Amino acid sequence: MKNNLELHQPVLLEEVLSFIKDKPLENPSYLDATFGRGGHALEVNQLFSNLKIIGVDQDSEAISYGKELFQKKISAGDLQFIHSNFSEIKNYKEQIKNFLGKGLVSYILADLGVSSPQLDDARRGFSFYKNGPLDMRMNDQEGITASDIINNWSAEDLVSLFIEKGEVRRPQRIVDKIIERRKEKPFKTTDDLSVFIEKCLGWRKKGQHPATQFFLALRLEVNQELEVIESTIEDFLDLLEPGGRLLVITFHSLEDRIVKYKFKEMAETKGTILTKKVVQPSWQQKKKNKRARSAKLRVFERGDYVE
Ligand SMILES: C[S@@+](CC[C@H](N)C(=O)[O-])C[C@H]1O[C@@H](n2cnc3c(N)ncnc32)[C@H](O)[C@@H]1O
Repeated sequence: MKNNLELHQPVLLEEVLSFIKDKPLENPSYLDATFGRGGHALEVNQLFSNLKIIGVDQDSEAISYGKELFQKKISAGDLQFIHSNFSEIKNYKEQIKNFLGKGLVSYILADLGVSSPQLDDARRGFSFYKNGPLDMRMNDQEGITASDIINNWSAEDLVSLFIEKGEVRRPQRIVDKIIERRKEKPFKTTDDLSVFIEKCLGWRKKGQHPATQFFLALRLEVNQELEVIESTIEDFLDLLEPGGRLLVITFHSLEDRIVKYKFKEMAETKGTILTKKVVQPSWQQKKKNKRARSAKLRVFERGDYVE
């Protein structure tokens, strides 16, 4: 089994750890809503001698990896996995209660987006640098794929998608071309689409592939990423014990905006925002880990309210 750090470098690790260390709670428990390769979970585990962990991921490869990584802890009855989209978390309350012996968790981390192994695996179809099927499903099993969208959606819907989720300024021309091209031959692979966009648009920004924003929009739509974080933040909060902390790491402005406004709304009645100023990686961290460049951490502490 490959070392988890060779697979995925956890982002803002020290910062995450300090927000947890800062608030030691009795009989601590940690719910990692986006387990990935367990980079954060392994280190949080080191902070306590008696931590109970719940690892959630919708990707079966992440769950299989985690089961090997944490074999001992699982055998000791101190770790359980939930193979699911975290948007379903409230349906697991009973399981969580049985496992922890209480219904509430001390710390929750959601490190959003895709992991490096998902990006690096051409078969998953996330990257324009690695040719593979135009898929992009994080759950590797069900739901619509990026090729379903690009080959079947109306011009109007594609334009809205690229504006709203890709922040593309004027996508109409490229969408017309996509529609023309797919009549002759549907888009099947990541190369197919990225080379097509590159030919139509050319390189405008140095260092940024012209297909970047289009791929981001498709990925966000396929996985409903913005919708699930928006609808689940309060469920996470309701799962926390009073004084417990919710930590969310985002990777682009649309996601961060949702977390920021949700936290503001919750701060009116449900607790306190601990990151008045959003936490971002140091330049050393950004240099070492390209994925960290756009990362932002926001932390919320639950107050003593009744659900
Ligand atoms: C950025 S990685 C997390 C990396 C992890 N913190 C680590 O250090 O190894 C995101 C992971 O969360 C999973 N994921 C993203 N959104 C999810 C969701 N809505 N429900 C469940 N898992 C999700 C992805 O499948 C991926 O494995």
